[in-house]
Amino acid sequence: MKRIGMLTSGGDCQSLNATMRAVVMGLYHNLGEVEIYGFLDGYKGLMYENYKKMNLDDFAEIINDGGTILGTSRQPFKLMNEPDENGLDKVKAMKKTYKKLKLDALVILGGNGTHKTANLLSTEGLNIVTLPKTIDNDIWGTDMTFGFQSAVDIATHSIDCVRTTARSHHRVFVVEIMGHKVGWMTLYAGIAGGADVILLPEIPYDTDKVIEAIKKREEAGKSYSLIVIAEGAMTKEDAALSKKKFKAKYEKTPFSSSGVLAKELLEKSGREVRVTNPGHAQRGGNPCAYDRVISTRLGSYAAKLVAQEKFGYMVSLRGSHIYPVPLEEVAGKLKYVPIDACEIIDAKNIGISFGD
Ligand code: F6P
Repeated sequence: MKRIGMLTSGGDCQSLNATMRAVVMGLYHNLGEVEIYGFLDGYKGLMYENYKKMNLDDFAEIINDGGTILGTSRQPFKLMNEPDENGLDKVKAMKKTYKKLKLDALVILGGNGTHKTANLLSTEGLNIVTLPKTIDNDIWGTDMTFGFQSAVDIATHSIDCVRTTARSHHRVFVVEIMGHKVGWMTLYAGIAGGADVILLPEIPYDTDKVIEAIKKREEAGKSYSLIVIAEGAMTKEDAALSKKKFKAKYEKTPFSSSGVLAKELLEKSGREVRVTNPGHAQRGGNPCAYDRVISTRLGSYAAKLVAQEKFGYMVSLRGSHIYPVPLEEVAGKLKYVPIDACEIIDAKNIGISFGD
């Protein structure tokens, strides 16, 4: 009987359970009964032999449950080659667990950092198949990551809620959206929420241009404005700073994209500004239907790869097709929003400002 390990690593998202369910159903369908070893809290479980033996039943009725039944943790790649506080060699320990349990393969669900470690384990000889998880949609090699659409729905709902109060009070609202260093979530939630200004990390903004957009609305008789800003978005001045100078500037007051913008808007325009930050709620709750569908398809394909003993791949979605992408091509690359993305061009064409 095949012995398959599985873990979820990095920040959670809504569709991890739906994906694992599909992987396990696919494994049983392709291979008959299999032994599943679920490692707890990501790579930590693999390092410290913290796992549970699971079967098909353990993955039943979780297609609509957010979070991850295996738990997760962040294990930065840059620390993988440093021993833990007790001197344990983490990579050696992970290989040891894999070998001790006589695993035939390890299925890993994770984002960018997770993929660097997955690639490392693959080059160390472990049989790895990965799946692209993150609300940020920033994994290179796939059009879509699972979790993204669910998170965009929540972010959009937040913008919708803010709109009604902004309208009543004639205020400028700044809504900060997650997404780490990329602007996919902000771009999609901004368009879906009907934002007037969308500010992305990929397009450093000019506060005067944002004020211009607010004024233009006022001239057209609109007494409120909705600005949606990515957590990683910066003014042109901040974006031009070296890492060292940026760190020094925000040493006392930690950087907050919405905080910086709100302060500048108040100082330069005198408008009454309020900030809303939906934060981790964007990663919570249940997966939307779209995510459940791509999770099921990606998970099904991952099971097929394991059954065919094709290892060293991430399963990705391109258009409406699922493809395997070699891990070494994925690891260490970020998928930014291209500044000439069709979504940006179309949004600009209806007058949405990007602050540039
Ligand atoms: O990668 C997902 C994400 O939610 C990012 O959008 C955000 O920058 C980060 O994780 C937050 O991380 P944590 O949950 O560790 O605070």
